[in-house]
Parts: sequence; structure tokens; C-alpha cells
Amino acid sequence: PAVTPFAVPLPVPKVLKPYLRTGTTDFYTVTMSRTSHEILPGRRTDVLTYNGSFPGPTIRARSGRTAVVKQINALEMPTSVHLHGGNNPVAHDGGMMDTIAPGRSRTYVYANKQPGATLWTHDHAHHMESEHVYRGLSGLYLLGDAAEDRLGMPSGAYEVPLILRDAQFDDTGAMVYTMDDAFNRTTIMVNGRPWPYMKVQGRKYRFRMLNSSNLRIFILRLSDGSQMTQIGSDGGLLPAPAPAPVLVLSPGERADFVIDFAQYAPGTQLVLENLIGPGPVEQVGKVMRFDVGEKVADPSRVPDVLTTLPALAKPTVERTFELQMDEPETGGHQAYINGKTFDAKRIDTEIRWGTTELWTVTNKSATIPHNFHTHLVQFRILERDGQPVYPAEAGWKDTVLLFPGQTVKLQLTFDSHRGVFPYHCHMIDHSAMGMMAHMKIT
Ligand code: C2O
Ligand code: CU
Repeated sequence: PAVTPFAVPLPVPKVLKPYLRTGTTDFYTVTMSRTSHEILPGRRTDVLTYNGSFPGPTIRARSGRTAVVKQINALEMPTSVHLHGGNNPVAHDGGMMDTIAPGRSRTYVYANKQPGATLWTHDHAHHMESEHVYRGLSGLYLLGDAAEDRLGMPSGAYEVPLILRDAQFDDTGAMVYTMDDAFNRTTIMVNGRPWPYMKVQGRKYRFRMLNSSNLRIFILRLSDGSQMTQIGSDGGLLPAPAPAPVLVLSPGERADFVIDFAQYAPGTQLVLENLIGPGPVEQVGKVMRFDVGEKVADPSRVPDVLTTLPALAKPTVERTFELQMDEPETGGHQAYINGKTFDAKRIDTEIRWGTTELWTVTNKSATIPHNFHTHLVQFRILERDGQPVYPAEAGWKDTVLLFPGQTVKLQLTFDSHRGVFPYHCHMIDHSAMGMMAHMKIT
């Protein structure tokens, strides 16, 4: 059904309340269930949810405080809950084979021993992850810390999650899922509603943005061409604010950024535009609209120095990874890393605990973009195609975009948990098709 853009207000996902707080730990319960929601105006859509919301409620955790999340699976299929970007041991990583059977529950413990960051809870049940995430098992996990609080950046009502994604709907309003169909998912949603508008005051806002799409890449800019200010990437704050004429986000990537709406006359309407397909530009070319109101007092700041990143250690091991999948015209539906499709029983990469490694990752597909995501570690991107990356990409990352033919060099240090963790393309239909492998840290 045709949807008029900018007709529905931007919803903000609820913040999940802990049912118990102790001196060290917050306890939460989440139930995964099937419910129906108004996504398109006037229609009901069946979705899979965490606690009945689409997308799921936001967990606000604190660095240094443990979060204990009991996940109850009230669905009719197995699920697995992964905290994307989280540094957690295997037992709490939500591995794809480590599933919660229907009717059962599982308690995940997150120690949150990492700096503040925009993290993401999503399903990871093997072969079902792409459809489960598409249908709604997805929610933000915002990790805060004291050093960040002291910066005095916009907070409270002025710190707003923006969870972007696409989907295909049929005429009844049902979501249509076809594996690896990037072309028909042309309804763009933010926080679960299509092309919303947001009324903002004339002051600074901090946005916590996630691209939760299965396959869609966004290249975002403001319609008046003015710059945004990026302050953080996947794994936390950047060392310094980076002027951002565009934000590039592939599936799983996050951007933490500030817009100062005080620079606009009241009544200004700014469209957040998307410069990349697939899909008709009338639909996929816009994302949401900011409707600027009166100027108000703004005590918030964006300091010139946000954090310090540790100096890069010297890598002692080098490896190469090639991402590839069957090209559409061959009719094949397999995807590969280094020529192999995923096998849950195979260890692809053996890593010695404590090493710093240099990984060269290449997208060998002729026409298909991929990205590369590691569990467990936040890495640094040293270069793309021989060039240093932009400041916005030079901070902590766990997911990196590779357009066809591109090569990135990553530096990773494995000095936390031991065990078997996956790495994969986060264009999640591709990982479900086999673009995934296992590393073992011993
Ligand atoms: Cu966002 Cu393997 O996950
Ligand atoms: Cu891919």
C-alpha cells in the first residue's frame, strides 16, 4: 500500500526498566512473542517482538555494572539473543547453535566491561537469524559511562535513538520475507514507522543511529546540505567530533552524531535523505523529516576532545579473508569466506590469546556489497584500498562496509575472552547463506 511520507510522528522505543537493582547489577526480563502492530497507518502487521515492542525496548546499561537479562522464548521456534558489539564470553554471546528452545528461557549476563557504546540486541538462531531480525527481534542496548556523562552532551529527551531499516509489505500490511531480496524492500522505517517526522526544538540533539536492515546500505545527508557532527562509531566515542557531510551505514553499523537545530529558522523542514539504492528514489531516497521549532536555551556541549583511543599495538600475525557469493545469474545461493561456506563444526581461524593481528579483508563479489563483522572484539580500520579511512571510521568498529572490489585492513587484539566466536557478513541474509566462519581463541 502507498504510504505518504512524513505523515506519522517518530516513536521512541521505551526504555526497559530493571525489575531489580543491586549495588553492582541490574536485572531484566524480556519475553519474545508474536504480536501485531500498527506499522503502516491503518494496518496491522504481525511481528516478532522483544516484550511486545517493535523494535524492542532499549536497554540502558552502564559500563562497569552487570546487566542480567532473562530471555523467555514464547515463540514457536528457537531463538538466540546476541549482543552485537558486546565483549562477552561464549556462554553469553548468543551463538547461533546455542539456542533457546520454544517455551524455555535463558539468562544472559553482560559484564559491560567496555566503554560506553551504541550496542544492539538481535536474534542469531542459525539459518533463522535473517528472518527473525527482519520480523522484529531487534532492539538497542545503549551502554553509558561516567566519562561520557561528564562531557555534557545532549541527553534525556535530547538523546534520541534512530533505528533505520527497510521492509517489504503486501497489500494487507503483512511483512514479506524472501531470502536475499534487496530489491523489493522499499518501505523505509525509523523506530518501526515508515518515513516519520520528528518535531525538534532549536537546539542540539544527539542521535544514536543503528542500521538494523538485513541488506540495505544507507548514505544519509541532510536536504539542505549542512553537515552533521559524528561523535561516535560502533564501539564508542571518537577521539574528536568529526564533521559529517554524509553518514554511511551498512547493516549492523552505528553512528552517534549531533545536529544543532539552532542554526535553522523555526518552521524549517529538513529531510534526512538517502543517496543509495536499490529501489525507487521517491521511496528509498528519503528516510525521515525534522520539523524545526522555536530556539530554546541549550546548556549541552560537544567538547573538542571526547575520548582517548589506545595507541595501536604492532600486529604479529597477518591473515587474509575473501568474501564471495554466487552471483545472481548463476542461480546459486551459497556464500563463502575464503572459498568455504559456513560449517558449524569447523574452526576456520585459530588465534593465540593476547595477539594483535592484521586482517586484510576483500570483497570479491563483482556487484554485491558486503560487510565484515566480528563478535567479541572491537577493531580499528587502518585503511581502505590503501587509503587511510575518514575520522568517522577511525574509531572503535565491529562492522565494516566493503563495496564490490574493496579491501580493508583491520587491526584486532584478542586479549579478553577465549573460545569459539563467529565472524561474518552482516548483510544478514548473506550470513544465513553461509558467509560466516568461526575463530577460536586459545
Ligand atoms: Cu550482529 Cu553475529 O551479529
Ligand atoms: Cu554479504
